[in-house]
Amino acid sequence: MSIGALQQDSPFEGRFARSPAQATGAAGAVRPVKLGNLTLPNRYFLAPLAGVSDWPFRLLCREMGASIAHTEMISSHGLVHGGDQTLSYLERPPDERPFAIQVFGHVAEVLAEGARIAVEKYGPIDAVDINMGCPVKKVCCHGAGAAMLKEPSIAERAVRKVVDAVAPLPVTVKLRAGWDEEHRNAPEIAKACEQGGAVAVGLHPRTRAQMYRGRADWGLIAATKKAVKIAVWGSGDLFSAHEARRMLAETGADAARIARGACGYPWIFRELLALERGEEPTEVTVQEWRAMILRHVDLAVQEKQGRFRLVRAEGAPRPRPYRENGGHAHFELSADEVERAAVRELRKHLLWYTRGRRGGLAFRRLAPDLHTVADVRRALDRFFPEDGSVPAEVRDEPLPGPLTADD
Ligand SMILES: Cc1cc2nc3c(=O)[nH]c(=O)nc-3n(C[C@H](O)[C@H](O)[C@H](O)COP(=O)(O)O)c2cc1C
Repeated sequence: MSIGALQQDSPFEGRFARSPAQATGAAGAVRPVKLGNLTLPNRYFLAPLAGVSDWPFRLLCREMGASIAHTEMISSHGLVHGGDQTLSYLERPPDERPFAIQVFGHVAEVLAEGARIAVEKYGPIDAVDINMGCPVKKVCCHGAGAAMLKEPSIAERAVRKVVDAVAPLPVTVKLRAGWDEEHRNAPEIAKACEQGGAVAVGLHPRTRAQMYRGRADWGLIAATKKAVKIAVWGSGDLFSAHEARRMLAETGADAARIARGACGYPWIFRELLALERGEEPTEVTVQEWRAMILRHVDLAVQEKQGRFRLVRAEGAPRPRPYRENGGHAHFELSADEVERAAVRELRKHLLWYTRGRRGGLAFRRLAPDLHTVADVRRALDRFFPEDGSVPAEVRDEPLPGPLTADD
């Protein structure tokens, strides 16, 4: 999935919804939600985000209140055949519980076997989600991701196989609206998933053909909710806490999966919980904002250092080419190289964090020259000083209006 999806028509205006008057639905205690036998403390989840939702980002979102944060989609083929990258997607701090993975693949048996291997060899794992929503060509052309929406019986069979393989763990499925405008069959596919034994479906109500264009059709979330007895988790254009709450109220969905709205703004979860309690969400101070970014950089370096490295299970197939260190290319890097690789990979997050802020434009211009943790800190000190003052060199930057995806 391309990060470019974040640049497509995704209006961020209204992201900083702050007023309790804007809270939709009854205020009061935060409502828990069931996921199979698990009880999650709230209805706000971090959505799976390929290339984004690694353990550092999941940790930050969970600290802000997300009750569960799925891994990005993991190739079931990679799990079965020991692909190089695959294991790194399963890395996480031991206290990331519940820990939920997402798998994709086009062969029901391989999907099931991949999920079983993850659960048995790299557990504890608490829940498994099957990706039937990925729109990218290299996934769909094999019949995986959103291509599974084309035929309900294929979807049902895949779900049943995975349910059998990982029982008693709860299995959920991530859907899109359908393949294209002529085939908006999410409610029908949701029924097939229910038949197969899924305990919930997550729906991003855009068709595969739409990719990330146009508006998400929340009406289809409501229609899917009516079509099945299992839980329905809504997503699509949840760019602010207010919009996520509105989606829940308008559709009757059981939970909101926040995706692009959390990128650069993990505080969205804190705001959601405040709104649900009927409280005024607290402003994100400059100090807090800087601390979040610096912590993210630090965690990204730890991730690259292999802090929670998983060791290939005994007897698991070896990646090709074989690496002594278990297939993680970055473990062969020196400490300096690790730091540089971490900062390079984190650059997209840095751009998201700084979007819509005065000083953001100047920061963006400098971004290609940020290589080390010290570089990032220096850039923050220069454009966003800790005392909250606005440095002369960015004083003329336009005041941030409503955020847009182009920021
Ligand atoms: C960069 C990116 C990566 C994504 N990766 C995944 C993924 O691995 N698995 C998945 O089910 N959905 C993935 N999605 C879809 C999101 O989980 C979500 O359903 C979608 O972005 C709609 O929500 P939003 O409009 O609030 O962003 C991805 C989306 C983006 C933008």
